[in-house]
Amino acid sequence: MCGIVGYVGPSAGTKSLDVVMEGLARLEYRGYDSAGVALVTGDDVFTEKRAGKLVNLRDALAADDVPDAVTGIGHTRWATHGGPTDGNAHPHRGGKDGKLALVHNGIIENFHALRNELLEQGVEFRSETDTEVAAHLVAAAYERTGDLTDAMRAVVNRLEGAFTLLAVHVDCPERIVAARRNSPLVVGLGDGENFLGSDVAAFIGYTRRALELDQDQIVTITPDGYEVIGFDGTPADGRTYEITWDAAAAEKGGYATFMEKEINEQPAAVRDTLLGRTDENGRLVLDDMRISEEELSQIHRIYIVACGTAAYAGMTAKYAIEHWTRIPVEVALAHEFRYCDPIVDERTLVVSISQSGETMDTLMAVKHARSLGAKTLAICNTHGSTIPRESDAVLYLHAGPEIAVASTKAFLGMIAACYVLGLYLAQLRGETYADDAKQVMAELHGIPDKIQALLDDTERVKEIAFFMADTRSVLFLGRNVGYPIAMEGALKLKELAYIHAEGFAAGELKHGPIALIEPGQPVFIVVPGPDTPHDLHKKVVSNIQEIRARGARTLVIAEEGDEDVVPFADEVIRVPQASPLLEPLLTVVPLQVFALHLSTAKGLDVDQPRNLAKSVTVE
Ligand code: F6R
Repeated sequence: MCGIVGYVGPSAGTKSLDVVMEGLARLEYRGYDSAGVALVTGDDVFTEKRAGKLVNLRDALAADDVPDAVTGIGHTRWATHGGPTDGNAHPHRGGKDGKLALVHNGIIENFHALRNELLEQGVEFRSETDTEVAAHLVAAAYERTGDLTDAMRAVVNRLEGAFTLLAVHVDCPERIVAARRNSPLVVGLGDGENFLGSDVAAFIGYTRRALELDQDQIVTITPDGYEVIGFDGTPADGRTYEITWDAAAAEKGGYATFMEKEINEQPAAVRDTLLGRTDENGRLVLDDMRISEEELSQIHRIYIVACGTAAYAGMTAKYAIEHWTRIPVEVALAHEFRYCDPIVDERTLVVSISQSGETMDTLMAVKHARSLGAKTLAICNTHGSTIPRESDAVLYLHAGPEIAVASTKAFLGMIAACYVLGLYLAQLRGETYADDAKQVMAELHGIPDKIQALLDDTERVKEIAFFMADTRSVLFLGRNVGYPIAMEGALKLKELAYIHAEGFAAGELKHGPIALIEPGQPVFIVVPGPDTPHDLHKKVVSNIQEIRARGARTLVIAEEGDEDVVPFADEVIRVPQASPLLEPLLTVVPLQVFALHLSTAKGLDVDQPRNLAKSVTVE
């Protein structure tokens, strides 16, 4: 997830740079590991770009002799391909003479193949990004067609994945050509000036009139107008509308809080985390992997180290990785791992999971594992952060920046990334497992739509949360992969609503916790689908009966079509059907939504709960 801005104005001056920089500041929440701008002056394209926060770019520009320009584009980056360096920052120049500049949000899945093709033609690359491939392709297409819109159209039809692209060329200084597929892009309509942005926050200070585009469309803007066409060249209209949000609401995409926005970004977080993970033969490929396949195929034990929500993602992944690879997986809280004398050797893979990549406990666990000779692999959401740098290999989530302190979309991204890792290891271990991998990947790709269906229907969960605003204690039960989800549901409620909450393995109930059940005690139960092996579904339904008989108020999360739970449930919250191991990607969503609304009902600060920080950099 990155932020992009474009501006074409009436006459050359400093306004282009001002508009672009202001837009970038408002979009910085979309990514903040590097930023850059390109300004078209009539006989040149001026670019400046810097790794780090926007302030670094601002400082560099202050020292530059910035030319006046009518047209400018800008980018704030959340790295996917290539680390957060000055060179990998956007815009990227295309063509031998660098007359084209391009910015990109998204992931071009087939970039390896396209890059190889360009390398064979003698193109020299200045970065490790997928974006530069697009820049060179559009520049080359422009050489052939002499028209920037035609050039963009020729290229987008060759790209796979998700992208918004903005291109400018020195030959047409009053024009920006932009294209979108599965990535956001809005046009801002001004008077004698027009704007582009990842969302309306980019230009809300200048106009409240916007144009919405469909997928697979190209828009060309000039100071006096715009033109929309489909990727097939058919002219299109787009829909104009008035923006009613204020600037603060615009940054949150119209949601009341970042957390609500991030919950709603989960379909994209999972989709993007899965993008580009398979080659043309359906085999899993991981980049950023600096451990050889030979070494990985020798692994005989896996430790997962993480804290909090990330540890629950690891606990969920343990069930899947063990099932697919038959390699024993232990999950350790990072702060415990370090001091528990872990049994680790050079055939042990220590997988750390961290959204921030800066959690001190997790970092120390990784260092300890390395000192014991283990191979270390980081699953992380933040490019260039410390934990990936200290690890032998990295698998990045592509969930985009998470601003709310309570983790939501990163949790789903972590599970998806761990599953990719599990399937990759399974693939290395032989064909029997590889068949499984193809099937699971296919099902995983269908999960974002199912999450979306859940998010489209959260009204009842919201009502339940508002009824429960005075509740003092909530219990959560789950079994198998539902067990870490129960604990994650409890953690979300503790940190957001300051309510005592505990997650248990449903089978453990009779060994003690059932003593907590008294009339009216709310209990969420995450019910495995009826097809779950070992009769687990039936067993959890029995657990529901046991607590209902003792007066518990049962809030049941069950698959669509599961009628067995109905007689014993005070409330049934439905989730779409999925294979047992993929259910956590769905069942956690209503629990996140519940915690969000209970916190709201209590009038608490959803995005910054008391006593907590987004990344815990002390032990
Ligand atoms: C809970 C939460 C924390 C983090 C934990 C690890 O909502 O956000 O429990 O999951 O502090 O943080 P990272 O993933 O940055 O290492």
